[in-house]
Order: sequence, then structure tokens, then C-alpha cells
Amino acid sequence: MADDRSSPDGVDLEQMLDLSTPWCLRVAATLRIPEHITAGHTDIGALATAAECDPDALYAVLGHLVSRGVFTEDSPGRFSCNRAAGGLAEAHRFIDLDGIGGRMAHTWGTLLDYVRTGQPSYEKVFGRPFWEDLAAHPRIAADFDALMGPVGHGVPDYDIELSGGWEAVRTVVDVGGGTGALLATLLRRHPRARGVLVDLPGTVARAAETMKEAGVAGRVTAEGQSFFDPLPAGADLYVLKSVLNDWPDEPTVAILRRCAEAARPDGRIAVLGGVAADDTPRSLGIDMLVAGGKTSTLTQFTELARRAGVDIVAAGPQSSGRYVVECRPVKGKDES
Ligand SMILES: C[S@@+](CC[C@H](N)C(=O)[O-])C[C@H]1O[C@@H](n2cnc3c(N)ncnc32)[C@H](O)[C@@H]1O
Repeated sequence: MADDRSSPDGVDLEQMLDLSTPWCLRVAATLRIPEHITAGHTDIGALATAAECDPDALYAVLGHLVSRGVFTEDSPGRFSCNRAAGGLAEAHRFIDLDGIGGRMAHTWGTLLDYVRTGQPSYEKVFGRPFWEDLAAHPRIAADFDALMGPVGHGVPDYDIELSGGWEAVRTVVDVGGGTGALLATLLRRHPRARGVLVDLPGTVARAAETMKEAGVAGRVTAEGQSFFDPLPAGADLYVLKSVLNDWPDEPTVAILRRCAEAARPDGRIAVLGGVAADDTPRSLGIDMLVAGGKTSTLTQFTELARRAGVDIVAAGPQSSGRYVVECRPVKGKDES
């Protein structure tokens, strides 16, 4: 290899192959090293005692991170935090290897298996399928919900543009709506609408704060249930945001069918996430590895929608930049 490693095409393969830095960052965050340093345990011995770990191993990890600009070593074996170390403390909740960060990090280790088989290997590593694993670990589930919600992904600040407008929308059901951040935003934008948040019981139980903060708590009810069971019927709009991308084809058809049953005869279904324009470049997401999820092309989705008994009314990127597919139940069809 030439001495000058900068490549003419700007692709630094060596840097991309490095696994030490991502793992050292996660280990330091999991051990709460920034917080221990801030609390005054700056010497490697005191730091290892506070973090309950081996001093030599910790020293090696911190030495590596210092060489990457995270933490400073002010004198041999004595550390302080810098901006990046502060960022590590802030990210703790989502990169903690004992929490949701560990679930995500170790899931990437199943990629080869996933590519060989096309099936997720999450259960082989963690003993249960992803959603059951979260249900069995409420703290990790709460961190997952927070990651999906305003703390992790921010407060949604966009609308869903409907072909017939929002005038006639009196009730909107957010199916798999997490802790309700998008529903709260939609209700703020459309003050005459009421909302129903549908998600698993543990998740909807964590939604109250979001609704209260958005000032819409009086217009929302929450249903802790599976979206594979019958959904609250008769609403004008059913929203599926970042839901269908978590599931393979058969469950996707089942969820859409539940929406169609509930929306009949005149309701609409808006899908955000899980469908992309036919010419969108393929990409890899952790939703594929954790749960076998899939993002369909519009052509593929059209066939899934047909099987679920829904027609596509409109599809395309909206002013929010999001690709939205609007569907309606097939007229006069009780079931496909
Ligand atoms: C990727 S999150 C998206 C949450 C939210 N729509 C958003 O965009 O932030 C997927 C959601 O599906 C929910 N979910 C998974 N399985 C479910 C089921 N069987 N019934 C209802 N909700 C489910 C999860 O709890 C989670 O909130």
C-alpha cells in the first residue's frame, strides 16, 4: 500500500473497516466513563474502581479513544472530558450495550446470517423475536420508544397531505404510533380532529407525557392492542408511519387488511415508511435485521395492497420530503 493512504475516490476503506472505535465508544458510554470523570474520578485507577472494571483494559480503551479525539489524557493515566466525551454521555441511553444500544449493536453481528438466509437472526442471539424481547424487557422497550419518539428522532414538524384535504377528517388513528409524537403534531395542526393511538400496551402507557406537552391530551384516546387484531373502526384516517418497514410481506398484508376493515367504507389509510418509489436505490436498514422488515417498491406494494383489499389513491414525495402512499378500502369488498 502506498504511504499516502488518501484515496483519489475519497473512499477510506481502512477507516470504514475499523471496528475498534465504534466498540470503544459504546463500552465507554456503557461504563459511564464521562460521568465518572465529571464526578472527579480522573485517574485510571479511580476510574476503573468507579466503573467496576479492569484498569489496564480500560486504559487501553481510553488510550484508543484519546487517539481519536474523544477524552483528553492530561497527564499519564489522568483523563478529562472534552466536547466529544460530553456527546457520548448524552448518547448513553441509545448506545448503552446493556440496553437498546446493545440490542442494535449485536444485531449488526447477524448481518452475514441475514444475507445468507434472508431471515432475521435476532431470536438466535436474544432468545425471542424482537417485539417479544422488548415486551420481556420493559426498560429496554422504554428506551426503544424514546429512541423512536421526540427524545431520539425529534418532534415531527410536518403534515400528511391528503388528496381530499383534512376538512372531513374528524378521527385519525395512528396505528403502531409509538408514543404518539406524530399523532400529537397532526392534532395540533388540525384542531377539529380527534385521535386514537394504537400500539402495544407498554408503549401507549408511555404516551401521556407527549400528548400533554402538545396540549392535545383531551382529544386523544389510547388503545393498547396488537395491530393484528381488529382496529378501532369508523375513523376517517388510519396512519401507518415507520411500521410496514418492520415486517415482511405476509404481516404487511395482514396489517393493511386490519386497516381496511376498520376504515370501510369511506376512511383512508396513509402509509409513511415501508414503501419507496420504484427507482429508489436499495439500502440496508436495521429494521431488516431485527425483524425481517422490508421496504417495498411501489409496484411491489401495489400487489400487497390489492391482496389486503385496498386501492392506492395517491403516492409520491410530499412537501415534508416524505414518500406517502394514500390508500382506500376497495369498494364493496368485505375481505380479500
Ligand atoms: C418503528 S416503531 C414506529 C413508531 C411510530 N409510528 C413512529 O414513527 O415513531 C414501530 C411501532 O410498532 C409497534 N408495534 C410492533 N408490533 C406491534 C403490534 N403487534 N401491534 C401494535 N403495535 C406494534 C411498536 O411498539 C412500535 O411503536
